[in-house]
Amino acid sequence: MPNISNKGRNMPESPIRKLVPFAEAAVKKGKKIYQLNIGQPDIETPKAALDAVKNNNIEVLSYSHSAGFESYRTKLAQYYRKNDIPVDAEDIIITTGGSEALMFAMGSITDPGDEVIIPEPFYANYNGFATASGVEIVPIKGSIEDNFSLPPISEFEKLITDKTRAILLCNPGNPTGYLYTREEIQQLADLALKHDLFIVADEVYREFAYDGVKHHSIMSIPGLEQNAIMVDSVSKRYSMCGARIGCLVSKNLEVMTAAMKFAQARLSPPTFAQIAAEAALDTPDEYFDEVNKEYTERRNLLIEGLDKIPGVKVAKPKGAFYCIAELPVENADKFAQWLLESFEFNKETVMVAPAAGFYSIPNTGMNQVRIAYVLKKENLERAIEILKIALEEYNK
Ligand SMILES: Cc1ncc(COP(=O)(O)O)c(C=O)c1O
Repeated sequence: MPNISNKGRNMPESPIRKLVPFAEAAVKKGKKIYQLNIGQPDIETPKAALDAVKNNNIEVLSYSHSAGFESYRTKLAQYYRKNDIPVDAEDIIITTGGSEALMFAMGSITDPGDEVIIPEPFYANYNGFATASGVEIVPIKGSIEDNFSLPPISEFEKLITDKTRAILLCNPGNPTGYLYTREEIQQLADLALKHDLFIVADEVYREFAYDGVKHHSIMSIPGLEQNAIMVDSVSKRYSMCGARIGCLVSKNLEVMTAAMKFAQARLSPPTFAQIAAEAALDTPDEYFDEVNKEYTERRNLLIEGLDKIPGVKVAKPKGAFYCIAELPVENADKFAQWLLESFEFNKETVMVAPAAGFYSIPNTGMNQVRIAYVLKKENLERAIEILKIALEEYNK
């Protein structure tokens, strides 16, 4: 039998999805599962986006331009300018989700063997994108004690080699919920300029910033135009994960020219979904006020609930809709599996994402889980109660 590639062998499985077979088996046994493991919001998609697909009169579902509809890019640039991100339509390539934008970014700025520095824990699929591009992730560890704020710049500087091409930042952070301050972004920008590096900022959770704290985009730092690359998506902003629309944004013409060749190779982003995403831009600000209020309440409920469970330590998130929690268990992977396979309370259990997969330093985050607060408050409350009971039983 022919061999598969080393790359294929080395592709990491998603820590978020790897417990799915155990969850499916639990459901078959009649258990109800509160899913705290995946960032799938339960918020309704704006009606305008859904109506735009229902009510259009397309007769041929054709390819679009490889960079995406011009009308969409023009309207998107207006949305960015309203958010202090001074870009034009030609600085944007529409992609099949933020995921493809991350692939295009890696493909455009790295060669096999190059290094990208990433504060960890980080969005687990960065591991997969790096493997696919033959790129080495150089992690820099954040700590739960200081809520996963930016590690000292001197620590970043120690990691820079002649192979370093970029720093990849997720702001607000998945899985940490950390929202970088303007000073932290500026420090990174200064470092990137000093060492001639790119900063790739994954800002797909931009709208999810709580407690009145403002989100600062990498694109709004004057002087960083040639080094800054932004990855974005409609998945979370409009609760449109299934649309599969994102974008890559940069003022750097060489980066965009390279990315455009990747975009041409896959022909175009999905047509119907672009129609929906373009219409979603008309979503009134009140939608985000409502969503923000809902997530703030969910976050408060979750953090207060977790704080009350003996032995649980949690970093308070300021953005996105995740938190990292340290549990009084040795191996959160085993505990998460046990929750699905062996535990139930009144035929109910919870599903969490073991956090080790969000780190690339081996044996790190072994007793941590990522919790997504994407459930309605009453369900979230119940899930926390069940988690507390499960921990007591597990540690008996
Ligand atoms: C930090 C981060 N970046 C990128 C993505 C990719 O999102 P999508 O491909 O749905 O736009 C996700 C999805 O969960 C994410 O959490």
